[in-house]
Amino acid sequence: MDIKPSDKFSGQKEGIWKRLNLFISEAKSKGRDIINLGIGCPDQKPAPVLVNMLSELVKDTSLYGYPFSEKELHIEISNWYKRRFNVTIDPETEIIHTIGAQEGLTNLPVALLNTDEILLYPDPGYPLYGYLPAFASARGFGYPLEEKNNFQIDFGRIPKEVLKKSKAIIVNYPSNPLAATIEKDGLSEIVRFAKQHNIIVIYDNTYCEIAFDGYRPPSIFEIEGAKDIAVELHSFSKTYNLPGIRLGFFAGKREIIRILSDVKSNIDFGVFKPFQRLGAYALKSEEVQNYVKSTVETYRRRRDIVVEKLNRCGWKINRPKATFYIFAKLPEFIRDEEEFVRSLVLNTGVVVLPGTAFGENGKGYIRMALVHREEVISEAIDRINNFIKNCT
Ligand SMILES: Cc1ncc(COP(=O)(O)O)c(C=O)c1O
Repeated sequence: MDIKPSDKFSGQKEGIWKRLNLFISEAKSKGRDIINLGIGCPDQKPAPVLVNMLSELVKDTSLYGYPFSEKELHIEISNWYKRRFNVTIDPETEIIHTIGAQEGLTNLPVALLNTDEILLYPDPGYPLYGYLPAFASARGFGYPLEEKNNFQIDFGRIPKEVLKKSKAIIVNYPSNPLAATIEKDGLSEIVRFAKQHNIIVIYDNTYCEIAFDGYRPPSIFEIEGAKDIAVELHSFSKTYNLPGIRLGFFAGKREIIRILSDVKSNIDFGVFKPFQRLGAYALKSEEVQNYVKSTVETYRRRRDIVVEKLNRCGWKINRPKATFYIFAKLPEFIRDEEEFVRSLVLNTGVVVLPGTAFGENGKGYIRMALVHREEVISEAIDRINNFIKNCT
């Protein structure tokens, strides 16, 4: 039997990870020592207090039933919103936890969109966004983000016919892969635009705690009236170095949370209770919050090393105010970023992602994830700079 994917997936490009893995295997077979700045998986460890707590929680056999939602987690999310953003979120009706932010991001468009409706998403943007219209059997439009606009949304670039059919827009600041950030006036513009066109905002605030130089990324709910049209999502993966426990949450407009909850109630029963308890503790514990500060400081030092080293060799990179990514424009003479990445991996062992892995507007860029110790990152940048020097 000849087995093929469904029509809606057959048009999708072969995943970038599959291609990268082939490049990596080839480089290893040539004896290259690999430094992987490709995948954005934190290398830092969870706070020791969390590891100890989890080892105790898993001994409690009362926590092994179908998990549903732990009240304690909702209460701590609500308290955290109040402390962090001075925003009021009702723990009972305005919060849902998800199996990582990814799962909620995937199921929400499924729950919201009809086949003729459009999901707007950033291009370049987190690769999952581009698959969501297919998952939802709906239509999609990647709105362009350009460096000349500081990667802010140019609403004029969304055609009127697209707007008429748009049901929801995904917005992501601090951004993966761009490391672009937003201020409250930018968020006000987004809320105004969404209200004007009757569009739901799905605000991806996954990186709001990884910020530097005094910058504190805002919540969309700091904007008056945002709760009428928006949900905001967060993840425990990056802030707490807990990507493996798959815990995230969505907060905001009650009806949207209810719709997501209805869909999920047919698919899953939530995240293992010990993980939910752990998440609740992470949000409320001063010790853990201080640990997050040290994690962020580590990323800041790595960012400074990379930006300085690259700029010394002629790159023109602004110091990002948030995330652990560097989205770097390649020198003009490099025409094909995927070919560049392939030869970089084969010749130096350094793995980065081509900008086009995040959408066609990533052309001419690469993304580096700063997920190694300073000396390793420093070595990787030296190899990249030498490789480019040898190309000229
Ligand atoms: C912008 C963005 N949103 C969502 C996610 C998903 O996070 P999680 O690990 O909670 O599924 C990621 C993970 O890389 C991300 O970069």
